[in-house]
Amino acid sequence: MLIKIDSDFSTDVIERGTITLINGIEKPYVIRLLNTDDLTDIMILQDSILKNLGLSELAVALTNDELSFILDGNGDSLGTFISGELRACCSLLWNVPDNINMAKELGFDAYSLSQVEQFEMALVHSDLRGHKMQQKLATILIERSKITHQKRYLFTTVSPHNFPSIQTITSLGLNIVKLTKMYNNWNRYIAYKDFSYEQLLDKSQVVEVLNTDYTKQKHLLENGYRGFSLKKDKNNNIIILFSKII
Ligand SMILES: CC(C)(COP(=O)(O)OP(=O)(O)OC[C@H]1O[C@@H](n2cnc3c(N)ncnc32)[C@H](O)[C@@H]1OP(=O)(O)O)[C@@H](O)C(=O)NCCC(=O)NCCS
Repeated sequence: MLIKIDSDFSTDVIERGTITLINGIEKPYVIRLLNTDDLTDIMILQDSILKNLGLSELAVALTNDELSFILDGNGDSLGTFISGELRACCSLLWNVPDNINMAKELGFDAYSLSQVEQFEMALVHSDLRGHKMQQKLATILIERSKITHQKRYLFTTVSPHNFPSIQTITSLGLNIVKLTKMYNNWNRYIAYKDFSYEQLLDKSQVVEVLNTDYTKQKHLLENGYRGFSLKKDKNNNIIILFSKII
């Protein structure tokens, strides 16, 4: 069951519904805007998820200061609550400080940098995974931002090993444009979407590459290809799908 609240931005509650947890029990959930009062709960959720990641390079923790900056009116954050507890959250930063602007990796000029918004955080508690919650929260954030901020470019970075996150961002229409080393020298895809100009890809010709074949992926990206989707092969390896810009 799903009840969408008619969001006129006068309420912090965006959606109510019921959801089946990993243990098979159905629970009511509420999605609402997060504010500075939620900071501690976000940090607790982040700590509990990141310490059980398995592969630490999958996600990078936001610091208290970075989170406060987003919650302080420089971005939009949504949380999913079950029995009053924060179980998932996602943030979109509109006022992107120059030193963390991901578009600098692509050599954008000063004006274009000011047109960038970027995803900064996505966390879904393991009890709640597999319901495309990251995609749901991200989609609401994008729709809200289209009305309130009208930024031209949506950026994010993602680990080549993070299957659900690559699936989320490519489903939202972001294309992988660069593979580089970032945070702790970990490999990261840089992905973005231009809301003003849709880059068409020749999807009649698809090149499938193992996520860890960095040489081949870099070669494709430097020669007019973009990563637009992914799948798993029969051995559970992540395969990224590339096509050339038309
Ligand atoms: C990334 C994350 C937010 C996605 O959660 P989610 O919205 O519940 O994921 P989805 O429902 O889209 O899952 C997509 C698929 O990946 C699987 N999946 C979800 N999380 C997974 C995980 N951590 N490990 C392996 N597989 C996972 C789902 O079962 C689903 O598989 P299917 O398509 O075959 O059914 C969540 O896994 C998470 O919090 N991870 C740790 C923090 C993180 O990596 N954040 C993103 C940093 S950019």
